[in-house]
This record gives sequence, structure tokens and C-alpha cells, in this order.
Amino acid sequence: MTTTALIVAAGRGERAGGGVPKQYRLLGGKPVLRWAVEALIRHPAVQAARVVIGNGQRELAKAALAGLEIGELIEGGSERADSVRAGLAAIEGDAVLVHDAARPFCPPSVIDRLIASLEFYEGAAPVLPVGDTLAQIDNTLGAPVDRSRLVRVQTPQAFRLVSLKAAYERWSGPSPTDETSVLAAAGIKVAAVDGDPALDKLTRPADFGRAEQWLAGALRPSTGMGFDVHAFAGEGPLMLGGIEIPHERGLAGHSDADVVLHAITDALLGAGGLGDIGEHFPPSDARWKGAASSLFLARAVDLLHERGAIIDHVDCTIIAEAPKIGPHREAIRTRVAEIAGLSIDQVSIKATTTEGLGFTGRREGIAANAVATIRTGFLK
Ligand code: CTP
Ligand code: MG
Repeated sequence: MTTTALIVAAGRGERAGGGVPKQYRLLGGKPVLRWAVEALIRHPAVQAARVVIGNGQRELAKAALAGLEIGELIEGGSERADSVRAGLAAIEGDAVLVHDAARPFCPPSVIDRLIASLEFYEGAAPVLPVGDTLAQIDNTLGAPVDRSRLVRVQTPQAFRLVSLKAAYERWSGPSPTDETSVLAAAGIKVAAVDGDPALDKLTRPADFGRAEQWLAGALRPSTGMGFDVHAFAGEGPLMLGGIEIPHERGLAGHSDADVVLHAITDALLGAGGLGDIGEHFPPSDARWKGAASSLFLARAVDLLHERGAIIDHVDCTIIAEAPKIGPHREAIRTRVAEIAGLSIDQVSIKATTTEGLGFTGRREGIAANAVATIRTGFLK
């Protein structure tokens, strides 16, 4: 089954206020829209993602989504349903996850449940029970409403694409707040799966403070360490941190022997409790013979992202008598940041000699130490 994520972000966020439409405001330093898109894109069941944006939001959206694989931005309409319709017209495949950009935190387990439901249902939505008393109001409180059969309905919602498209074609009511009413009107049963409070929509100004607080409390930092050594052998150049460095000697190894990327990859795997580089890319596997180590680092980053981790920082110390690292430091930093999808200030590269002592001092090889800091915890 191929599944496309369709994120609707074409609203003006009038109730939230705040100058810029709420989907472009920052939470934990990242635009709300980017949180929402990343959470869906990173789920292994999602093959493609498209984003529907509002009139005049193209530059904001481009900046918020830089580097993500989301194809062309789609222009939405004046009501949410118009935006969803525009999105549906642009996508293909078996299933679609329609999601509000204003719900930045989507746990992968919710997507697991939605996708599983599509085996038996044409649509599925995450729901939560209502905790508070519900009542009618007309200046003063009126009669309470029986809440025992009421739920709060969230997004993402999963649908078989043909069913949702057909249901929208038949829909003639006012703009619905989500797709469940469109399917219900077409007489199609929608499965209810367990939702998650993390998915609550940002609607009013106070929701942003609550989301920031929740984010701070929900994330747990962890640190990983990596260490690697490669011996000099044969002629240079040598690979360090994903760039080629001129040197009279090269480094020996099964892959490209990039000791810097190996140490950083191991640090990231360590931070995520994901084993080590040898386990993921065994030297016994011919696939990795002469492989560019950028593959290893990119894979470690993907594994972390699939688990909902945020990578905060990596720091690496290169231990070598020669070549001199200083002149290449910024280039290495830039390349490591590029491979790992980080900004330059999230990557630190340092170098030291061992004052002529030990194997590095005798110029027999190069060693590298790395530390990675990540945050995980809320996206279960
Ligand atoms: N949305 C959309 N197109 C619209 C209206 C809304 O794509 N014409 C999107 C919003 O960007 C949001 C989601 O639908 O991600 C849920 O809508 P809502 O919370 O109502 O967002 P806004 O319409 O932006 O907010 P408000 O109603 O307060 O103006
Ligand atoms: Mg709205």
C-alpha cells in the first residue's frame, strides 16, 4: 500500500493571533508546520508528502520546509475543505493521511494504528475521550450534555484515497472541520483509534505556551560516544569528515576509512541506543566495501528521526599528528552538517596531536572521538 501524507497549512490562524499564521510560528525553535510535516514524512509507512499552503504564504512555507522532500507546494482555498480538495486533486496512491499543520506533534504509534485500520476500514481517525463536563451555554450555563458517547477527533486521519475522493465529490454541506464528516455523509464507516494529547491542535494564543511547556517536559536528552581508529596505508588523499584531504598517505579500511564520520555515526547510534556501526554496516558485507561513509552517517540520522529523535549537537575531536586539520576544519564542519541535515552551529570539529606519543604520535594512524547529544521521548 502506498500512502501519501497531505498536510493542510493554508489557514490564516485568526484565533491564534500572533502576527504570522500559527503554522509558521516557532515551537522549540522549529516552525509548527515543519514539526507536523517531519512527523509524517519520517514514518516508514509514508512514501510521499505534500503540503497545501495559503495565498501569499509561499516564502514562509519554503523557509519553514527547506530541505524536506515534499514536491511542489499546493495552493489551498478559503475554507479548510477547499484546501483538502486541492491537495487530493494533486496526489495519487492507495491511501492518504490528511493532517492539520496546526498539530505539530504526531506520535508514530498513532500512524501505526491508523494504517492498520485501513485493512478493514476505508477511513480511520484518532479520538480521545472528553474529560470535562460539557454543557450548553447561553450567557449562563444551560443543561449539561451527556459526554459518555462523545469523543474529541484529531488528525492525521487515514483514508483509502478513492473513498475520500468519492466522498468529497458527493459532499455538498458547509465546509467540514475534518474529513470524518465527509465520509460519514457518504455512508462510510470510519474507524476510531486511540488518539494522543500530543496531537491537540494549536488554536488559541494560550495553546502555544502549553505546547512549549509540553515539549520541554516531554523531551529527554541523551548523549552518545563514538571512537574510531584507522591505520595509514598506501597513498593519499584521505577522507575525513566526508571531504577529501590531500596527504601523502591514505587510511586503510573496508569502507572509505573516514574515521571522523565513523566516530560521529557511532556517537549518534549510541545516543539513540541503536547499537554500533559494525552491527549496522558489517565489514563482512560486500555492500560496504569502499562505501562512502556519508551513507553510514545519513542512515544513523534516519534511524534516529524514525524514532522521533531530535539531534541537537555533535562534537568530534580528530587525533592526528598530520595532516594539519585547521585549514580543513570549516569544510569538514560544513560537510558533516550537510550529511546529517544539521545547521553548521550544531556541528563542532576539533583536532589535537598527542605530542608525538602513542600510535597517533608515531603517525601510524588517525583516531577520532565524538559525542552526540539528542533529545527523544515524546514520539512513542
Ligand atoms: N486550513 C487550510 N485552509 C483553510 C483553512 C484552514 O489548509 N482555508 C488548515 C489550517 O492551516 C490548519 C488546519 O486547516 O492547519 C485546521 O484549521 P484551523 O485550526 O481552523 O486553522 P486556521 O483556519 O488557520 O485558524 P483560524 O480558524 O483560527 O483562522
Ligand atoms: Mg479555521
